[in-house]
Amino acid sequence: MKSPSVKELLTATHILQEVVINGWVKTFRSNRFIALNDGSTINNIQCVVDFENFDENLLKKVSTGAAVKISGTLVESQGRGQKVEIQVKELTVLGESDPDTYPIQPKKHSLEFLREKAHLRVRTNTFSAIMRVRSTLSFAIHQYFQKNGFVYTHTPIVTGSDAEGAGEMFRVTTLDAKNPPLTEEGEVNYKEDFFAKETNLTVSGQLEAETFAMALGKVYTFGPTFRAENSNTSRHLAEFWMVEPEVAFNDLDANMDLAEDFIKNVISYTLENCKEDIEFLEKRLLDEEKTKPQAERSEMALIEKLKFVSENNFKRVSYTEAIDILRNSKPNKKKKFKYPIDAWGADLQSEHERYLVEKHFKCPVILFDYPADIKAFYMRLNEDGKTVRAMDILFPGIGEIVGGSQREERLDVLLEKTKALGIDEEELWWYLDLRKFGTAVHSGFGLGFERLVLFATGMSNIRDVIPFPRTPQNAEF
Ligand code: 4AD
Ligand code: MG
Repeated sequence: MKSPSVKELLTATHILQEVVINGWVKTFRSNRFIALNDGSTINNIQCVVDFENFDENLLKKVSTGAAVKISGTLVESQGRGQKVEIQVKELTVLGESDPDTYPIQPKKHSLEFLREKAHLRVRTNTFSAIMRVRSTLSFAIHQYFQKNGFVYTHTPIVTGSDAEGAGEMFRVTTLDAKNPPLTEEGEVNYKEDFFAKETNLTVSGQLEAETFAMALGKVYTFGPTFRAENSNTSRHLAEFWMVEPEVAFNDLDANMDLAEDFIKNVISYTLENCKEDIEFLEKRLLDEEKTKPQAERSEMALIEKLKFVSENNFKRVSYTEAIDILRNSKPNKKKKFKYPIDAWGADLQSEHERYLVEKHFKCPVILFDYPADIKAFYMRLNEDGKTVRAMDILFPGIGEIVGGSQREERLDVLLEKTKALGIDEEELWWYLDLRKFGTAVHSGFGLGFERLVLFATGMSNIRDVIPFPRTPQNAEF
């Protein structure tokens, strides 16, 4: 007999059926009520034990965290709070859980404490809800692109290029760290390394995705990316997942349209299909907000915020307009920004992005046409000669969630750029080839998946929305 899940039983219409179910004990109350969960839903099923019929020593082993197998009858519940419950006929403790040492007790634990128990934290309501939402968001992403004719493209994890040119890469090597082979000049000789060249973990699949877009038209990647930036913030991971669509013949406007439609779609799909988890996370957030001063509380509850984003247009503003707004803003005049804005050309920090989204426009914002100097080499130069066709999407509570651009498709302009930046053309020969053979306008963007999960769950630290976070000084588990 296939055991049903807790989720299936809680919505069962066929009462009085005999069932067998496996799960973990959340709580065992009054030697009578087991709250059982198997991970299929945020809700537990109540299993009622007639303790007179069971061995006392067996019941002692039914403690929080224990794995059990229960056979019994699904009946309409006598008590309040649940529609159905199981009257237990047989109870087997499959795996005990010592109540004195099990860290996940049925009480509130701090998120910091749970980060140190990342192998067990997914057993809590909060983390199981987050991880189900994460799974649904992933599915929604694939569904969106597949429905719209995009080809899922697996770009390499090990690469020789630095797509973003920020030099924040993890080296991949099999050379002996203590005794590497050296060149005559005394440098490490990577010709003797596994790939006979310097290689690193990818920071972005974009450059390879571009090659596929120039043949398959519409493609997307969805995979892990790695950045060795030493940013110990609540928005940065050293290993994170990125979604990168790339579309031939799309200009920047079409790119912005795609990004906006895509985000709205995956959010509304997840809201519909993870309702109970998101309702739970909304309550959690409201409780947490009660402990904050009024001014720091968000104006919208989680579900309202998700609906707002999926139903309203994002505001599109050029970098130049944004700088004017920021320059004349109250916090800038009162010197409240850590990085004051005084001139065109300044790179925007998270504090500026959040001011624009949360205080000024009060909706998601797409900033476009950034100064060329603060953006990557591959972005298309505008006629003004100083801005590029870049776009960043900024979200409330998050800041930058998407970074994208129209790509430079003109060989001569691209070569000028790589020369000016000292980028080795020989390393990029295959990327430059795309501009020699059937070049065309094309665009794409990268969405930081964990930042989207942060937004959808209302969590505030990126370490809490990925199963096992990798951050500076931390690669436990
Ligand atoms: O803006 P980024 O660096 O853009 C790219 O990598 C482009 N190649 C994308 C493209 O056009 N195909 O990164 C894209 C997004 C950011 O907007 C942010 O959401 C996320 O990736 N991101 C990070 N998320 C978590 N931790 C980090 N260290 C991140 N760095 C970037
Ligand atoms: Mg960016």
